[in-house]
Amino acid sequence: MILNLVTSNEHKLEEYRNGLYPLGIEVKHLHVDCDEIQADTLHEVVLACMEQLKGDGYRDFILDDSGMFVPALNGFPGVYSAYVMQTIGCQGMLRLLDGLNRSAHFECCIGVCSDELGEFTLTGRSPGRIITEKRGEGGFGYDPIFMPEGQELTFAEMDMVTKNHHSHRGKAMVELARELKQRMEGKK
Ligand code: IMP
Repeated sequence: MILNLVTSNEHKLEEYRNGLYPLGIEVKHLHVDCDEIQADTLHEVVLACMEQLKGDGYRDFILDDSGMFVPALNGFPGVYSAYVMQTIGCQGMLRLLDGLNRSAHFECCIGVCSDELGEFTLTGRSPGRIITEKRGEGGFGYDPIFMPEGQELTFAEMDMVTKNHHSHRGKAMVELARELKQRMEGKK
């Protein structure tokens, strides 16, 4: 099976290819842009992008929206994760968390739009904590400061297979493969 992934992030593309290939899914890059609306949830952002792309005539694609949520900051940066990364970055997040509880989690919402298998969304979640200084060179975004639960390495210190095993996106991919399989079997 082939899926067309809408993203402007090369790291995400590689993570999807790495995570879905062993599950029998090939990922192609669909080079289109979606204006990310400001909304309260990742799910709303994903639905709005799906509608926009369908309105532009696109049919078979997947896309995702992700964010890092810190309970001690009432869920911030959450849906504002991209803006916060562009403005204050990892160092700014570390300053904001000084003296606060460092628990955090990542969430990823994947939207699927398929003529054959229907439209649906799935989510994956990775609980963990934000460490006190950046560690590691791999990955992107908040990877150098986020350590998933039960691990002693940040996402940026993990190889991609290991990051996918623990990450919000990797978990959403497993759900995606399961759901696609069920829907394909239902068609037989
Ligand atoms: P996006 O809108 O899904 O691209 O993600 C919003 C922001 O969350 C990005 O700019 C990244 O900084 C951050 N982010 C999303 N996924 C990850 C991840 O897997 N690791 C680290 N940061 C991430």
